[in-house]
Amino acid sequence: MNKNKAAVAGKSRDGFTSSFGVLAATLGSAVGLGNIWKFPYLTGTNGGAGFLIVYVLATLVVGLPVMIAEIMLGRKAKADAFTTLKTLAPAGQPWWVISVMGVAAAFLIMAFYSEVAAWVFAYVFKAMGSSIVTHDPKVTSAAFGQLISDPLQSLLWQWLVLALIAGILLMGVAKGIEAVAKKLMPLLFLLLLVVGARSLMLPGASAGVGFLFHPDFSKISAGVVLTAVGLAFFKLSIGMGTMMTYGSYFRDDQNIPATTLRVMCADLFVSMLAGLAIFPAVFAFGFEPAAGPSLLFITIPAVFASMPLGHLFMVVFFFLTAISAVGAMLSLLEVPVSVISGRFHMSRVKATILTLLLLLVVGSGCALSNSSMAGFKVFGMTLFDLFDFCTSNVLLPLGGILLCIFTGWVWGLDRTRLALSNQGALNNQGLCRLLVFLLRYVSPLLILVVMLKGLKVF
Ligand code: TRP
Repeated sequence: MNKNKAAVAGKSRDGFTSSFGVLAATLGSAVGLGNIWKFPYLTGTNGGAGFLIVYVLATLVVGLPVMIAEIMLGRKAKADAFTTLKTLAPAGQPWWVISVMGVAAAFLIMAFYSEVAAWVFAYVFKAMGSSIVTHDPKVTSAAFGQLISDPLQSLLWQWLVLALIAGILLMGVAKGIEAVAKKLMPLLFLLLLVVGARSLMLPGASAGVGFLFHPDFSKISAGVVLTAVGLAFFKLSIGMGTMMTYGSYFRDDQNIPATTLRVMCADLFVSMLAGLAIFPAVFAFGFEPAAGPSLLFITIPAVFASMPLGHLFMVVFFFLTAISAVGAMLSLLEVPVSVISGRFHMSRVKATILTLLLLLVVGSGCALSNSSMAGFKVFGMTLFDLFDFCTSNVLLPLGGILLCIFTGWVWGLDRTRLALSNQGALNNQGLCRLLVFLLRYVSPLLILVVMLKGLKVF
């Protein structure tokens, strides 16, 4: 009788419906502006291939274990991040704090992320016109400056993006998130392959390939390693409950370690493709790879304008960047939406609208960071930079450390084995032992040292 009730209750909970849907949605969360905006500019400013190697190591030793742990816990509890941690932890232990930090991180990340997405959406239309189609970086720089320093434009584009994301979330997990990801992810891969191939065929492209693949280790400092670890958390959407929430929508027969590995590899592949679409062209036309956050908006239009058929490729490029941002934002907002509706017994519609309203307030601080609020600084940073810095360098790594400790020491090996083998159906005992070893002794210490050193605590 009880079993039947549970089955009925289980069925009524929204979730991903197919194996491909799981992969598309999870990858949709991982792939985003982190790959196409952050990864290229950070690789550019931190010296190229050396940074890439540190990043890949961080992904393997820290990113992958935390991601598997999060998805496992989420699927076990089949609830929002707060409820998951509350039910899985022994009575009285406040591990739910991780989810509270996670909800805060979701708002802070979305605040600046939605603004970068806003610029990308605006650029899709700008690229169709002619205002940014020039190979003079001074002109593209002025066009970008004009966009971000106009408070009204910044706010309106951000609101448009937020309304779009909220609209998709209102449709639910299977009909909204999963359906959209299944359509957009294949398109993203296709477009990125086309743009990458175009860039690689340019005369002089090899210098850009060399920049991406020939390491110079002299550029690697503690700060650079922290940036790489922060980027690994950011790109894999871990450390704040996103993957836990998506894990709760996984099917019981899904092979979690295999799916996670696939997502990680595909995410890395997309970053490499973005790097291969951008750096060969940057070098071929003599631009500066270390331009920083504006690389995508100032350098890239000038680069595309310099190549044959560049106008068309520029529209395609910004369109695919916009696509990638959508899946990531859906997953970011799903965390507060599910926690609010689960915790306060609110309908999904109400929780989405409440989240959206809160975000309009927090987000406008970032939208106006280059105009009306440019003078408002905390620790010498605008709200935009502050939210970016605090989330990638503090909140996500800290959440990661706590998740490692919880899974490694409190949840433990036996339950991990049972959960990851799908109650014994899969034979992955050795992998579980390695995972728990990493989660207990290696990942948390590594994150802690890197975090403290990078923040110059010692
Ligand atoms: N991973 C996404 C990107 O690369 C951003 C993102 C989505 C994210 N969900 C997250 C980052 C959760 C940190 C935490 O663009």
